[in-house]
Amino acid sequence: MRRKLAAGNWKMNGTGGSLAEADALAAAWPQAACDILICPPATLLSRLSDRLSGSLIATGAQDCHTASSGAHTGDVSADMVADAGGSHVILGHSERRADHGETDALVRAKAEAALGAGLIAVVCVGETLEEREAGQTIDIVGGQLAGSLPDGATAANTVVAYEPVWAIGTGKVPTLEEIGAVHDDIRARLVARFGAEGDGIRVLYGGSVKPSNAAEIFGVSNVDGALVGGASLKADDFGGIIAALNA
Ligand code: PGA
Repeated sequence: MRRKLAAGNWKMNGTGGSLAEADALAAAWPQAACDILICPPATLLSRLSDRLSGSLIATGAQDCHTASSGAHTGDVSADMVADAGGSHVILGHSERRADHGETDALVRAKAEAALGAGLIAVVCVGETLEEREAGQTIDIVGGQLAGSLPDGATAANTVVAYEPVWAIGTGKVPTLEEIGAVHDDIRARLVARFGAEGDGIRVLYGGSVKPSNAAEIFGVSNVDGALVGGASLKADDFGGIIAALNA
């Protein structure tokens, strides 16, 4: 059985005052039947990790560089994420792919760096609306998966997040059948490439997950949790999603 994961992606949101939301979440969930992760902006990672140490909430970054150190102004390495207390790093989020031109090859190199630093890589894939309407979803997602995951991916060091680009921050969600079709295909590809490890790699759904739709999405086959943006910013909302995983 794959243990479910509720992962929050704060994106470029949050300053010191936001730590109170994480405190509230930790207080509300002293125990849980799922794993819980918050990925704050880089400026908060160290503070949040300190604050949540001793709680069951893990912390992570939203990106890392391929190199462990060097002349890369503005970047953060996987070693630095680990040093700041992070255990995970989101890689290849569609906003990084769109805003920074990140390719599958770059995401894979970042994932290799993350695994080398002992982090768990949360590798994101997902089609645009144009690609979905052209009937290319399975091919696009399959291609991203093949190109973005390193050969060293295991159930312990890698999580996949399927996030249709058109569902992120829009309030639009694919039908449960559409989510299931993609997740089943991702599972088949993971097993084909990684064998038993591929069966253990968790596949999260992401894109407009909220307390009101979480339970039905978590009922879909091969959905092992969620990567949550907007609804992870408030402890009550994220708690509602965690509750759906603990029902
Ligand atoms: P959303 O974002 O939950 O705000 O749609 C999801 C994500 O980008 O990870």
